[in-house]
This record gives sequence, C-alpha cells and structure tokens, in this order.
Amino acid sequence: MSEPVAVTSVEVPEEHKRRILTFMKRSSAFTTSQKQGLEQYGSRYLLNFPDQKFNQEAVFGRLAPLTVEIGFGMGYSLIEMAKAVPERDFIGIEIHPNGLAQICYEAGSISLPNLRVMDADALLALEHYFPDACMDTVQLYFADPWPKKKHHKRRFVQTHIMQLIRRKLKTGGVFHAATDWQPYAEWMLEILEFAEGFENMAGPGQYAERPAFRPLTKFENRGNLLGHGVWDLLYRKVR
Ligand SMILES: C[S@@+](CC[C@H](N)C(=O)[O-])C[C@H]1O[C@@H](n2cnc3c(N)ncnc32)[C@H](O)[C@@H]1O
Repeated sequence: MSEPVAVTSVEVPEEHKRRILTFMKRSSAFTTSQKQGLEQYGSRYLLNFPDQKFNQEAVFGRLAPLTVEIGFGMGYSLIEMAKAVPERDFIGIEIHPNGLAQICYEAGSISLPNLRVMDADALLALEHYFPDACMDTVQLYFADPWPKKKHHKRRFVQTHIMQLIRRKLKTGGVFHAATDWQPYAEWMLEILEFAEGFENMAGPGQYAERPAFRPLTKFENRGNLLGHGVWDLLYRKVR
C-alpha cells in the first residue's frame, strides 16, 4: 500500500462542482417480477424525491435508528439486513431502474415495513433530501471501483464527499464501506484515515473484519472460494 498523504483541505475540486457522475446509467427490459414490483409496490416503497424532504416519522411512522445504503444494486443484501433488524429503518438509494424495481418486488412480496428506496443520484439525495445529522449508518458496498486513473474522479469516496456524509451522520454514526478491489480499498483507506471528524473503528490504518451484520453475497462467497479478498472499512463520526 502506498503511504497515506495528509489531506488538509476539503475544498471541492472544480471538476466536482460540475458534478461528475459516479455511475453509468444502464437498464434492461424489466422482468415480470420487476414490472410487478413497480406497479404493485412502487407507491409504497419508492420515496418521493425530489418533491419532498425526508421526514422519518412520516415515512416509517416512527423514529428508529436509520441506515442509508448508497448503490444497493439488485438489493438482495439490503433486503436481508432489513429483515434481520426490524427495529432499524433502512433507505436504499440507486439509479439502476431494474434494481429499484427488483427491490420493490422483494420488499412488497414479504410486506417489509422498515425499508424504503429512492430513485436518485445519492449525491443529490444526500445534499437536498436528507436533513443533517439524521443517519446512524451510511453504507457503500462494492461500489464501482473505476479502475482507470482518468476515472478515479468518479469514485464515490472522495475527501469532500466524506464531509457531506459526515454532515448527514449523527455524532457516533458509522460509515461502512466494503470492496473486493484492492486498489479501491487502498484509495478509501488513504482518504478515510485523514477524513476530518472520523475515527477508524479498527484502529489507525487498519481494515476491519467483516461485521456479522453485513450479509455475505453469493458473488462474495464465490470470490472467497477463489481466494479473492474483500476489504471492510468502518469509520465512526466522532465530531
Ligand atoms: C458495482 S454495483 C454494486 C451493487 C451492490 N452494492 C452489490 O454489492 O451488489 C454499484 C452500484 O452503485 C450504483 N451507484 C453508483 N453511484 C451511485 C450514485 N451516485 N447514486 C446512486 N447509485 C449509485 C450503481 O448504479 C450500481 O448499481
């Protein structure tokens, strides 16, 4: 791993002011269950962004610890987590239409009460929809690693984006990332070690063990059998 470089300024780079997208929008024809997911369950599970601001009591009918997942893909692990911890509320943000439709289907078929999803760029949702200090956990699992150097600016974890996440977390709240791409793990570690207001829960410069609450995906299981690594990073907002 290369030596971490201290980042003292959180100035937003000019290029990010022009809003560099962290995703490539793609979609394919909806399956029958995805169509059903949107038609039958969309109105229950899709949050109304950008027309409304987030009000947890109005959305979930209660105030419970809140986990927000950025880029849940097809959402299988988010569904598992929401089922496993009914006393917590979960919001998933995704721009992939098939993933949004699939998760509505999965949640709707079991009438899952503690999950909602947003069809949005997470950066805009964090900035404009959520009030400050409303989240207990922000999770980012297997985010696009953007391996080419010229695309590194598209990676979700950036110094100024961590300050946006810091604002949205409650003090004591946690940012949790996992990746199977070692260079992205190292990139995140470098940024997070020097992220103002955060403390590495595994100890300075350390990756964390996979916490039991993060479900092992089929993809990850297969990777483990092939000897591929997965790196978890857990940082607490301390101020
Ligand atoms: C590599 S996939 C990983 C999906 C899932 N977390 C998993 O582990 O299978 C990354 C996902 O993040 C989504 N994504 C990337 N940037 C995003 C953003 N700014 N807002 C919302 N979703 C985003 C992409 O659409 C994609 O589905």
